Order: sequence, then C-alpha cells, then structure tokens
Amino acid sequence: MSQMVINGGKKLKGRVIISGAKNSVLPLLAATVLCDGEVTLRNCPDISDVDTALLILNLLGIETKFTDNTAFINAKAPLNTILSETVMRKMRSSIVFTGSILARRGKAIVAYPGGCELGPRPIDIHIEALKKLGAVVTEDNGKLIFTAPNGLVGTEIDLKISSVGATENIILAASLSKGTTVINNAAREPEIDDLINFLTIAGAKINGKGTSTITVFGVEKLSAIDYFIMPDRIEAATYISAVATAGGEITLENVTPKHIESIIEVYKNAGCEITAKGSTLTVKQNNGLAALPYVKSMPYPAFPTDAGPLLVASLINAKGTSVYVEGVFENRFRFVSELKRMGADIKIEGRAAVINGKTLSPANCRCYDLRGGAAVVIAALGIKGKSVISDIEYINRGYEKITEKLNALGADVYIKE
Ligand code: EPZ
Repeated sequence: MSQMVINGGKKLKGRVIISGAKNSVLPLLAATVLCDGEVTLRNCPDISDVDTALLILNLLGIETKFTDNTAFINAKAPLNTILSETVMRKMRSSIVFTGSILARRGKAIVAYPGGCELGPRPIDIHIEALKKLGAVVTEDNGKLIFTAPNGLVGTEIDLKISSVGATENIILAASLSKGTTVINNAAREPEIDDLINFLTIAGAKINGKGTSTITVFGVEKLSAIDYFIMPDRIEAATYISAVATAGGEITLENVTPKHIESIIEVYKNAGCEITAKGSTLTVKQNNGLAALPYVKSMPYPAFPTDAGPLLVASLINAKGTSVYVEGVFENRFRFVSELKRMGADIKIEGRAAVINGKTLSPANCRCYDLRGGAAVVIAALGIKGKSVISDIEYINRGYEKITEKLNALGADVYIKE
C-alpha cells in the first residue's frame, strides 16, 4: 500500500491546471448508456473513479477507450443489465447508472453501493423515485432488481432531500421515458448543469437548469456527441486550501469562478487575497489565517460539504477559535482523528467541529475517504517536517496527478511504494 511522504512547511508558488470534474464525469459516463454511437468526453480526469466507471460500462458490454484525458465510448443499449457487487462496492456513485440502464433495457440489477464512509449513505430516494417512474423493485440476496417491462412513464417527483445523485438518476431515467417528469426540490450543483448540457446537446428536452425544479420531456433516442467536461470545483477548493494553509501565492487555471463563489468568500474572510480573471484565480496568503467563527456547509450554492474537510485542515493553525458545521452528511469527521495526531485541537460536537488554532507537528496519518485524505495532505503541507500518509488510494480516486501538481508548486512530496 503506497504512502505519500510530505516534507511540509514550504510556501507554494506557481500555476496549477485544474482537471475535469470527477463529480461531473461519473453521471456523464452513465449518460452515454442512453446514447447510440461513439461519444467523446474531453477534459476527463485520469483518476481511479473514472477507471471504475469505464469498467462498469465494459461490464455492461460497452466498449471504451481512454487516452490523453479523453474517454471514447462506443455507446449503445447495454448488453447486460447487472452492476456487479465488486464495482458497486468500489464506488457508491455507481448507483447513478441505474436510471440509464433501466431506461434503455427495462431492467437493472444493482448491489447496494459501497464507496467512501460518510455516515450511512442510503439510496432510498433513488429507489422511491425510480418506482414513481414505473419501475418495480424487488430485493434478492443483497441485490436490488429494478424492472420496467413497459418502459418508464414520466411523473412528478418531490425529493425529500435535494440529493445530487438522485436528481441525476431521475434526469437520466426520465430522458428516454414516455411523457414528462417534473423534479421538485432538485439539487442545483453545477455538475447537474453539466449533465443537462450534455443531454440537451444529445437531443434531450430539459427545462429548469440551475433551478430546483427540473422538467424532463421524454424523447425516443439520444445521439452520440463530443463533449468537454466542466472544471472540478472541489479540486480548485483543494489547491485554494493548500496555499491558504502553507502560505505563498499560486494561480489556478481552468476554473469557473462562479462555481466556487462561496469557497472564495470563506477563504477571503480567513485572510486570503483572491482575484478571479476569466478562468484563472490567483490566491495569496502570507500572514497566517484568521479563525472563522462559523461556517456551515449546505447544498449549492452554499459552501460545499466536500470542501468542509479541506477548510478544517486550513483552520487548525489559524489564529483563534473556528467553528465548522457539516450540513449535508451524518458523519464527515473521521479524518479529524488524523489531524489530532498532528496536535490539532478539535472538538466534535454533533455535526460541529470546534477548532482552536495552534502550532502543529508532523505525524504519520492515514486516509479514510477522499476529501478527508486530502485534508490530511493539506494539513501536512503547512507543518514543517516529514509527515507520512497511508491509504492514499482514497486520494487517487478523485485527484489527478496530485503529487506532480503539488511539487510543481514548490511542495516537497513523494510516493513511497
Ligand atoms: C454527491 O454525492 C457527490 N458525489 C459527493 O461528493 C457530494 O458530497 C454530495 O453529492 C453532496 O454534494 C458525486 O457526485 C459522485 P447526495 P451523493 O445524494 O449524490 C442523503 C466527493 O467527495 N441521501 O446529495 O451521494 C445522503 O445520505 C463526494 O466528491 C439519502 O438520505 O450525495 C446525504 O446525507 C463525496 N437518501 C444527503 O442526502 C438517498 O437516497 C446528500 O447526499 C440519497 C442521499
């Protein structure tokens, strides 16, 4: 199991190119199941979650190729309808393939998904929504069997939580269903806009992009298209947090400032100088961070839950006491135990983390999930001395070339096999 060794305490300087969005490419790969012909997805990040999603397509009988950050998918109705337990355990967001498979073949068999541990991650909203579209769901030996022998029929769906994955699953299923589907309390994350853009170009009829009411008018077929994936706003947040923590001045390229307004505001409040110019963002911090009395993550456009662990990692050596509240997931604080190994003074009270900034020491830590792992890396960058981070497979799920990108910014990071 490889480890990341970080010789921290070095200020960051230079430019970093932000990759395509992990949380966009996954639903887009699920959308290719609805198309016929060769789909080209450009600006595709070279990360293990994409490898897993391409494997899912291959197991469905769909040929794929991946070169130079471009995925080529020979899209057609899947020959198989089973999402194997192996891949479902590897990546929870695999559930988003269900809607597409069901819409194309009238059947989908999926195992309960696995993926990062962020507290219980139910899929009840997905199941209820697909049933409302006409699917019959039965359970057999840990597998869910969705059938819609007469096809899916559009309807009105009220989401009890504005779930990103469920919103995506419904849009995918509804695009090729008969009739019209209205999704109320839909999630508004930018990745959903990217999915709607892709489907619309492929021939889908979808209104309400960017709002919490999305209307999908089912069509007969979708064509193969060539599409450029939006930038990864959480990877951008990760490098903002890195320079906020280690100090220095960096420029991020290929960002969409509009998607990270809430993140920019929070780091400006903590004392960073941030200027956006077109698709670049310059971030500077040389006087240490000020504590933040209260930040709570909520669905978009609020401060995103995925940037929560990154912010906590920045605040552990800020001047004063900060409070971060996790507003989306039950439990996203497993990484805190690893920051405490560095001497961090953090108290978890329910969904709140109360952080008293102080000087820290390097330590040996591990990753429990993607963003928690990134938080440990960020913390280590700001601490003079050698920290060793294990289980970095979690980090490789969502960050393309993170070691190369950090070293190009003047960090001193290497991988120990
Ligand atoms: C997506 O996960 C992202 N993943 C997550 O990013 C992100 O944290 C999350 O949205 C929130 O923005 C991908 O897009 C691949 P949800 P998703 O359904 O769709 C509850 C990362 O680090 N819920 O919006 O799984 C759920 O438990 C990952 O990149 C139900 O109760 O998130 C959570 O409390 C982590 N029943 C809340 O809704 C359901 O059926 C929001 O979850 C589904 C969700």
